[in-house]
Amino acid sequence: MDSLTRVPGLLYGGDWNPEQWPEEVWAEDVKLMTEAGVNLVTVGVFAWARLQPDADSWDFGWLDRLLALCHAHGIAVDLATATASPPAWLVRAHPQVLPRTADGVRLEFGSRQHYCPSSPAYRAAAVRLTRALAERYRDHPALALWHVHNEYGDHVAECFCARSAADFRRWLRERYDGSVAELNRCWGTACWSQQYRGFEEIEPPRTAPGPANPTQLLDWRRFCSDALLALYRAERAVLDGVSPGVPVTTNFMSMAKSLDYWEWSRHQDLVSDDAYPDPADPHAHVHAALGYDLMRSLGGGRPWLLMEQAPSAVSWRPVNLPKRPGLYRLWSLQALARGADGVLHFQWRAAVAGAEKFHSAMLPHRGTAARGWRQTLRLGAELRRLGEIAGSRLHGQAAVLLDWESWWALELDDHPSARMRWPELLRPWYSALHERGITVDFVPPTGDLDRYPLVLAPNLYLVEPATADRLAAFVRAGGQLVCGPFSGIVDRHDHIHPGGPPGPLRPLLGLVVDEPWPIPDGTATVVRLREAPGPQELRAVSWSEWLELEGAEALAHYDSGELAGRPAVTRHRHGAGSAWYLGCHLGADVGRVLDPALAAAGVVPQLPGLPAGVEATCRLAADGTGYLFLLNHGSAECRLPPVAGTDLLTGAELGAGFTLAPLGAVVARLSPATTLPTTDEEHV
Ligand code: GLA
Repeated sequence: MDSLTRVPGLLYGGDWNPEQWPEEVWAEDVKLMTEAGVNLVTVGVFAWARLQPDADSWDFGWLDRLLALCHAHGIAVDLATATASPPAWLVRAHPQVLPRTADGVRLEFGSRQHYCPSSPAYRAAAVRLTRALAERYRDHPALALWHVHNEYGDHVAECFCARSAADFRRWLRERYDGSVAELNRCWGTACWSQQYRGFEEIEPPRTAPGPANPTQLLDWRRFCSDALLALYRAERAVLDGVSPGVPVTTNFMSMAKSLDYWEWSRHQDLVSDDAYPDPADPHAHVHAALGYDLMRSLGGGRPWLLMEQAPSAVSWRPVNLPKRPGLYRLWSLQALARGADGVLHFQWRAAVAGAEKFHSAMLPHRGTAARGWRQTLRLGAELRRLGEIAGSRLHGQAAVLLDWESWWALELDDHPSARMRWPELLRPWYSALHERGITVDFVPPTGDLDRYPLVLAPNLYLVEPATADRLAAFVRAGGQLVCGPFSGIVDRHDHIHPGGPPGPLRPLLGLVVDEPWPIPDGTATVVRLREAPGPQELRAVSWSEWLELEGAEALAHYDSGELAGRPAVTRHRHGAGSAWYLGCHLGADVGRVLDPALAAAGVVPQLPGLPAGVEATCRLAADGTGYLFLLNHGSAECRLPPVAGTDLLTGAELGAGFTLAPLGAVVARLSPATTLPTTDEEHV
């Protein structure tokens, strides 16, 4: 078994903040945890002030007692380094610990995450605390996992203080090999007389009268991700040195913009995620699936951990809907269906004071009489029944290219349209694939493409010639590539490629873009497919382009507006494969264009013919056992065809067909002879 930690089976539990409670309550906590099947708790996330009440005094007694209690009850501990909430004494002794906004406003003590990533005082104190914890608990039998900090980049992802400015200059000196002339060239400082005579003249992109230099902004984003990563790595280095062999993670925040998670994931022993799909959003489960596929991909396909989710409502949206009965269970199973080996929560016991007292918890304010508690018990029991799936994996049938640098560059200011945002471009593509029952992996531009028959690039605004070459080689060898609009625009310095878009992708796509043609808000342009089963009319929103074909064939034309008659969607045969290009943003209609590419790549749903709203994935264990998840996100009961297997949740044989209630789920252990089509069996 490929266990994430030393804990066998699936992980179940959550953030436990015992420092907010009198110790008498702890005994009840562990008793109820045992009842619920909790086997992993995250402890100490915001306990810095309790652990270190003063610069030179420590209070570990309570944590000693707590860990002993956990161990005595067979509950393993994900021990946090507690560094996300610097205490008042540290901030008052070193006010430079507090971060500054782009407007120069100092963010005050009184919330959390109030630290400047470049503050030496903060870093020294964080490393000292981490070392103290590691030295004290490295051999503790309850310790299963180190939880570094909490949600890096949450609340404060950047700081504009003088110390950060100095750190930025140091980072720039390294990036540009000490040459300010090179920086001037790369930043295009000839525009608006922005030339620097030396690095000492450079500041972070603080609030200025008008648009900031875009390359400065792009470098700033790179720097901010690196600055936080350096902090993480400083804590991690302590843990590696003092407590080797205990896995280390920090909790990610799904598809978060501020951190380049490809780079970050290289430094995680296991990828963990905090996911808070909104019960008010009818598409929440699709967005959640996207985040879960990303987490699996960041870990190279290995099982990952849902570190936090809400048992019911959160407390930080303007209106916080609870999860209707059954939703919590279904969404928990969905994380497992997409490769998680555990389901943890924020938080174990509902708080009575503080900023999160209205946040749901595994043990609600009403205690064991609450509906929520019954849900906690039920899910715990079900996860125990599913224990054998731990370590099994699932594999994407197609790859989606994701590049944080391109995302950052795409969303810089002063572009032809401010509507071109990465999440909005990606989501319709992902939804179309999800709706068709196709599981995807995310891949960085440098990733391995050869294991996929189909690569999707909803947007590649920033593309380097090396990436274009790799994509061309992939297509030449028989792959299908589908590329979305506004791609191939700039290089890594955010300079427009010579000859205009799609830059280095031009020979592969067989076309050139004469001019972007954004579509005004609230209007749409009709796009007509040349050949298609079913309706041929699609609607483009936000974006279209004037394309000139150079070998590509048009698969669809604009049928209204100023571009009427011009090509909108193209295909270019290149070697043994094809490169498809969408010159417009097709929103919810994009699936109609993806269909022929899926067909050309031979990518078919693992389980064809499922009713709408039913999500299906299959995890495969190292011994070849398949686990089929069928989750009904719809509001109607549906009848499903026979499956040669047993439902691990109920023990029912599924060979005669079965019914899935709304929000119902089945996790079938497939009979040995059953084969589902997969593209990548050798990777199991
Ligand atoms: C984040 C944090 C937690 C808690 C939850 C509430 O995920 O990591 O500490 O604040 O949000 O939803």
